[in-house]
Amino acid sequence: GDVAVVVPAAGAGLRLGPGAPKALRLLEGEPLLVHAVRRLAAAPSVRMIVVAAPRADVGAVQALLSPVAPVTVVPGGAERQESVAAALAVVPDEVPIVLVHDAARCLTPPSVTERVAAAVRSGADAVIPVLPVVDTIKEVSADEVVLGTVDRSVLRAVQTPQGFRAAVLRAAHEAAADSHTDDAGAVEKLGIPVRCVPGSDLALKITRPLDLALATHLLAMPDP
Ligand code: CTP
Ligand code: MG
Repeated sequence: GDVAVVVPAAGAGLRLGPGAPKALRLLEGEPLLVHAVRRLAAAPSVRMIVVAAPRADVGAVQALLSPVAPVTVVPGGAERQESVAAALAVVPDEVPIVLVHDAARCLTPPSVTERVAAAVRSGADAVIPVLPVVDTIKEVSADEVVLGTVDRSVLRAVQTPQGFRAAVLRAAHEAAADSHTDDAGAVEKLGIPVRCVPGSDLALKITRPLDLALATHLLAMPDP
């Protein structure tokens, strides 16, 4: 493999409700992070996985993941991008391709990881997995009056893993002054093109309790 995967997993999971940090919440008896790392390790391109864990749980996460795959665990930061930066800092310079994958997208199939890695390998600086937007999207004013309907056909919902030529991701992170919700966003600000490849319904982000219920059902289906 020629790919390192950085896994931000240090979030609290506030929208999921009270309980353990989200990456350590259980889905069919196993932490979300275990589901995520197992699927990453099953992708042949992946040489190395670095997890940014909640600071208080670094030791526990290392012990949890050691039987699953060889991983390096580092303490994450207060913001997602700080967690990504902390994990990126331990990826050796000679690894040519870096993917960033949310632990919360724990059912992402290895085929998506391979598709993203392959697109970077074949020359793209930055690659994101996307899906068409299914809802009608309206732009509204501050007082919730509709200003207009956005043309849905030019919109995409963005997933992870997002893939980068390693030097491009490093440069984007160093240049990023203000916060960004995804890593491709920091690359866009450098004026570097970001290419889209098909994502997967299985790469949904576990965010609210409904998502956990859906993921439980998806796990029981033949494919995941
Ligand atoms: N993340 C992180 N470090 C942070 C915040 C988030 O590593 N300081 C990670 C999360 O663990 C998750 C991913 O970034 O895998 C996407 O973030 P999100 O879905 O927002 O997770 P949380 O921040 O944990 O959830 P919430 O916003 O509901 O608290
Ligand atoms: Mg969050």
